[in-house]
Amino acid sequence: MCRCPGHPGNPGRGNRAWGRDPLAARGVGLTGRDDARLRGAIAAAAQRLAVAGVPSPHVDALALAEHALGVPQLILAVPPAIPAGFEVALDALVRRREAREPLQHIIGFAAFRHLTVPVVRGVFLPRPETEVVAEQAVDEARRLTGAGREPLVVDLCTGSGVIVLSVATEVPGSRVIGIDMDPTAVAAARGSAVALEVGAAAARFEVGDVSDPTLLADLAGAVDVVISNPPYIPDDAIPLEPEVADHDPPRALFGGGADGLDLPRHVVTAAARLLRPGGLFVMEHADVQGASVRELLDRTGAFEPATTHHDLTGRDRFVLARRR
Ligand SMILES: C[S@@+](CC[C@H](N)C(=O)[O-])C[C@H]1O[C@@H](n2cnc3c(N)ncnc32)[C@H](O)[C@@H]1O
Repeated sequence: MCRCPGHPGNPGRGNRAWGRDPLAARGVGLTGRDDARLRGAIAAAAQRLAVAGVPSPHVDALALAEHALGVPQLILAVPPAIPAGFEVALDALVRRREAREPLQHIIGFAAFRHLTVPVVRGVFLPRPETEVVAEQAVDEARRLTGAGREPLVVDLCTGSGVIVLSVATEVPGSRVIGIDMDPTAVAAARGSAVALEVGAAAARFEVGDVSDPTLLADLAGAVDVVISNPPYIPDDAIPLEPEVADHDPPRALFGGGADGLDLPRHVVTAAARLLRPGGLFVMEHADVQGASVRELLDRTGAFEPATTHHDLTGRDRFVLARRR
């Protein structure tokens, strides 16, 4: 889910195109009565979710059916047996989604790039658009390992830790540190690292405040990549989607100040302190903040001219700049 109004998401399927019949789109080979029963249940669930205003009703209905059936994906040539009580279980799940509880909280996991991580209430849910932002750190770390280096990457405002875990798992040999001021988020990120069997040498998570000038003081001038998806919504821009307004922690959303950039300013200051000369800074922002974020970076004098880049929907989404 995007923090911008009108751009909802789902665990890993929000940025993919799906037809109106998700079973047909996946080539699911159901036959006979089970076929009709499953298709009917999913179609009815999708209809209810559409009426409730859920932005991706067919995809969500399918995910809830998978959850009710206890199968990871309905792509089996032979469909699973439909257990007793399937419709009742699906109805209970659909009710929760109709009430606009995030799909990830209902099914218990979120997908990000190639990862599937458990979700924890009170911790910001990873968004599809951040996958492209994370890719910048993955590509830079891969470039450095290709040159025989052992890249050091710092993710400020790490939340669930999915950016850290993406770099650590996609680029063996990199060392990645995630910082968040919220101990619940740090515990969740550590839990995901354990679940994914990512060791502390590759990824570690610490509680810390990006506005603290002593944060990671021992690494000043030594970091190859600083990446961040900080809170950046302006104080008076209340998110409209219930999934965001009622379930994401406010500290993960609002950047502070009329422009929402108080926290991102601290992130920029920390990045200038931590990066080595030539090191890469990557920061996500709202689609309307491209120019002000570039200006904010350029005014520091610490970076080469900053550039703005798009997400998969073509909206301005993140800034890149090299440390002078
Ligand atoms: C938008 S979430 C990003 C989470 C994750 N990086 C992602 O992309 O899914 C922002 C995170 O910043 C954290 N945060 C807010 N203020 C902070 C601060 N002053 N220092 C460190 N982390 C902070 C919040 O706890 C939240 O987890």
